[in-house]
Amino acid sequence: MTPLQAPVAASVANLLSQRRSIRRLAGGALSPDTIARLQDAVLRTPSAFGVTPWQVVILQEQRDVFWEEVAAAFREGLDGDRLERYLGRLEDFRPGAGVILIYEDLAARPALHQNWGLSEQTAHDFVQQGLGMLQLAIWLVLTEDGLVTSLQHWDWLIQDRLAALLSLPSERYQLISVLPVGEPAEPARDTPPVEPSQVLRIDPDLRQARPS
Ligand SMILES: Cc1cc2nc3c(=O)[nH]c(=O)nc-3n(C[C@H](O)[C@H](O)[C@H](O)COP(=O)(O)O)c2cc1C
Repeated sequence: MTPLQAPVAASVANLLSQRRSIRRLAGGALSPDTIARLQDAVLRTPSAFGVTPWQVVILQEQRDVFWEEVAAAFREGLDGDRLERYLGRLEDFRPGAGVILIYEDLAARPALHQNWGLSEQTAHDFVQQGLGMLQLAIWLVLTEDGLVTSLQHWDWLIQDRLAALLSLPSERYQLISVLPVGEPAEPARDTPPVEPSQVLRIDPDLRQARPS
């Protein structure tokens, strides 16, 4: 098991710098306190016009049933090397404490379009932006509680089977991402550093660009 980093004061900046994608898990637990904080994050994440475009499912006690269903879906939809690769990855997630499923509530887009006068494109974009905020909020809560996760995208393979398992009809709920949660069994991968000037400008000189 990869030892957890020594806890540091939980500031947003610290949590952001500690948060990493970890794809091999080693146990851990989603404590009642963590569940409560996750619930807070799900309720407090901002959404356009307060129309919450998500449904979040947390699985801990029933995670084995979930992983069996995912494996069955992989066997149904994949073959050869790709199947082996996908099944291999599942073995890295299975020892974890649980799984968090993020669904888009498809009722939100028409609500934003019809009730708030947004174009269909803008309604779509606002929903996606809200879902991004939600996923980061959840990720930071897990980080604060000493747990790790990653974002997995298997919707195209597992959506139909899960809809039946979770009684979440596909006409209403679209699977966005799967977050396997646990303690880390591997270090974070090296990622190329991002050059600050590539993504951020602080006080650019506006006078130079001003038309005369
Ligand atoms: C929108 C989005 C989609 C991602 N999809 C996947 C994915 O399907 N599988 C995966 O292992 N990681 C996925 N990631 C994680 C990124 O690859 C990862 O965050 C990035 O490489 C930086 O590494 P870090 O999270 O360890 O800082 C995704 C991240 C984002 C924001």
